[in-house]
Amino acid sequence: MAINIRQDPVTHLMHSAEHDFLELAAPGVRVLQPYQPGKPVAELEREIGIRHAIKLASNENPFGPSPRALAAGTAAMQDIARYPDGSGHALVTRLARLHDIAPGSITLGNGSNDVLDLVARVFLTPDFEAIFSQYAFAVYPISVQAVGAVARVAAAHDGSRGSAYGHDLAAMRALVSERTRVIFIANPNNPTGTWLGGAELEDFVASLPAHVLVVVDEAYFEYVDAPAYPDTSRWLDRYPNLIVTRTFSKAYGLAGLRVGYALSHPAVAGLLNRVRQPFNVNLVAQAAALAALDDTQHLHDCVQRNRAGMQQLLAGFREQRLPYIESAGNFVAVDVGCPGPQVYQALLREGVIVRPVANYAMPNHLRVTVGSAGENTRFLTALAKVLS
Ligand SMILES: Cc1ncc(COP(=O)(O)O)c(C=O)c1O
Repeated sequence: MAINIRQDPVTHLMHSAEHDFLELAAPGVRVLQPYQPGKPVAELEREIGIRHAIKLASNENPFGPSPRALAAGTAAMQDIARYPDGSGHALVTRLARLHDIAPGSITLGNGSNDVLDLVARVFLTPDFEAIFSQYAFAVYPISVQAVGAVARVAAAHDGSRGSAYGHDLAAMRALVSERTRVIFIANPNNPTGTWLGGAELEDFVASLPAHVLVVVDEAYFEYVDAPAYPDTSRWLDRYPNLIVTRTFSKAYGLAGLRVGYALSHPAVAGLLNRVRQPFNVNLVAQAAALAALDDTQHLHDCVQRNRAGMQQLLAGFREQRLPYIESAGNFVAVDVGCPGPQVYQALLREGVIVRPVANYAMPNHLRVTVGSAGENTRFLTALAKVLS
């Protein structure tokens, strides 16, 4: 009896070595450039055969998480044969208390990047547009392009009206059209460190038509002490089209565990939760994040130490006559007066990893995370050496 072998066109294509998989990819993905993360310490040490390299490249907390978060995460390891609580009940309840908001207004993310992606997947299609600023956080264009939507980039301030490199809200407002669905605002922004004051930002949010959602990305919220800096989570009752994102990756020192969240109108959260992977925040991460929220002293200490470290870096830049962009975060962009990627390479050879930002069209800047006092000294010394 003859066996009928059916030719499966898909399988057939997959086995063709010459096949151009790019052609098969969704149009938005075809033009995507992947996000470039900071170089890990272990990779640099392996590459150049050194030890004790330092990483000031990913805006992590150099002081680590609360010991309580570590203990809770370690204890939770006992249960990792089980799936996490997909609703994140305990963490969501605790966050609701922290923000004095209904639990139904919270969407958990695998880092806040995940939430940014959820927003794009829920509200953007190739028929719609998203707006963000020049020099804005590099994940926005990726999330927008991945769903094939159109990115409209507003020119940043040139320094004549607002802080140079900062978001120009008037320019962003001018791009709003019938096709706009999402606006991303990083406050403060990475890699520039620039921030927007409450009055200016609220005027902007209030001016938006109802069909436009505005995401205020507050990844560095806990670090900011600029007097006019707003806590936009307090505005949610007034603006149903507002989405505020926060993270445990920065001041809480849990970047490796990946926990972030969005605060929004419950109807928006309901939509985000439709596309959210049910177990996007793992069991250890949920336990550690929950415990981290209880250690306000640790958070306070990290923020204070960041402030001291920032002053140390700025003093070092002034001494070396290097202009920098005033920053409200735990990082600062410094103008090294020559191509940043070259200085970055030279610093690597000194065992110091920072971040070139030429991909943000800031060719002479390096973005440096505020480290411990010792790390800052080591970086400043290495910088003086490589620039001499
Ligand atoms: C402005 C901004 N938003 C969001 C994130 C995402 O952080 P995570 O996904 O770790 O919460 C970062 C991380 O660098 C950031 O700088």
